[in-house]
Amino acid sequence: MEYYYPDAVITTAGHVDHGKTTLVHALSGVWVARYSEEIKRAMTVKLGYITIGIYECPSMEGFRFISDGLLQNGKCPNGDEPVLRRRVSILDVPGHEVLISTMISGISYVDAALLVIDASMPVPQPQTEEHFTALTIMGLKKLIVVQNKLDLVTKEQALENYRQIRRFLKGTWAEDAPVIPVSSLHKVNVDAVASLINEMVPPKDVSTGDFRMLVLRSFNVNRPGTPPDKLVGGVLGGTVIRGSVRVGEEVEIRPGLKLGNKYEPLVTKVVSIAIGDERIEEARPGGLVGIGTELDPALTKADALVGSVVGKPGTLPPVWSDVSLEFHSIERAVDKSTGEVSFKPKDVVMVHIGSAAIMGIVKSFRNGTLDVTLRRAVCAEEGSKAVITKQISNRWRIVGYGVLKGGTTVLE
Ligand code: GTP
Ligand code: MG
Repeated sequence: MEYYYPDAVITTAGHVDHGKTTLVHALSGVWVARYSEEIKRAMTVKLGYITIGIYECPSMEGFRFISDGLLQNGKCPNGDEPVLRRRVSILDVPGHEVLISTMISGISYVDAALLVIDASMPVPQPQTEEHFTALTIMGLKKLIVVQNKLDLVTKEQALENYRQIRRFLKGTWAEDAPVIPVSSLHKVNVDAVASLINEMVPPKDVSTGDFRMLVLRSFNVNRPGTPPDKLVGGVLGGTVIRGSVRVGEEVEIRPGLKLGNKYEPLVTKVVSIAIGDERIEEARPGGLVGIGTELDPALTKADALVGSVVGKPGTLPPVWSDVSLEFHSIERAVDKSTGEVSFKPKDVVMVHIGSAAIMGIVKSFRNGTLDVTLRRAVCAEEGSKAVITKQISNRWRIVGYGVLKGGTTVLE
């Protein structure tokens, strides 16, 4: 069968327990929450990702497209021979409020979002709103609302919930977003979600320019006790935002290693590239990929390199220890008496740039410029957007975003 490179990245979004991971399971046939902590607590903790096929079922009534999780013994539900049309990668984010930083660091380069809403609860729940705000700041243009758990409500409740969803979206960029009633658990109407993904999310344009990848996960894939001669190098999971890289090529990773006050970029070779279990020769935008390197796996274990940027040597932007941001508040976070979000020196904020989420200490906030000292350095281009969260009544909330316009570099 011809190999199809995934041509778009679609994220889940929505309040804790509304059924994001269950929906991804219905679409893919795979349970993406694999970590013992997630299984024990029945809650998504890390970013999960999976690549799915979208198939056409030529003579199926209604929605004609399905995905891997809806195949029945390799056939369409109506018995048709499925025709693979494309593949897309799905990112599954956590909904719990303490994990909002993880969510934000996943979504910076997605093409569309599936906002999952529990039909049995009033709209919006706090993280429904927070995730929607994050998608808004990142300038997303495509939203599919999945009204989930339809099996738990009456028709009247479902209609009332639908009206609340419409009210929530009114006047926003997603005002006309489709709302699809489903039961992810019972795989009812999930073919509508697959069909709408196919229809609404066009394949990414072929990408040119220097290869650049954001690291969303990093792993040591060796089992404990593997003999030294059998050890494989560190693995980076992430999303290619432009250009491409091939097996055998050299790459640089920034910020890299901290040595005193300076940073030393890591340089290594790509020894393998995989999407799920499939080995491929080249990584490019659209897919969530795993890149095997020659790095010491101790450097990549337990997500240690999350937030890093990968590129061809000599092509990456600077690394900053202090950032100067042109701040834009979101309306909801503004203090009514001052008309601004207030920041005082020494306030703790989280700065999210690309896939990095970094704790920072406010140095000053004057004339719309927010100056922050970062606990860890970040590799970013001038002009990058940074989502800022701050603790308000013990909860981390998005208060706005900043555009990077300068600061102190520790690596040019
Ligand atoms: P976090 O990742 O922790 O934010 O949660 P989540 O949004 O991924 O929710 P998850 O998919 O883990 O589902 C939460 C609970 O809702 C589980 O017990 C699911 O079985 C249940 N659930 C999900 N979808 C449905 C549905 O369509 N119907 C019913 N009855 N239960 C569902
Ligand atoms: Mg989940």
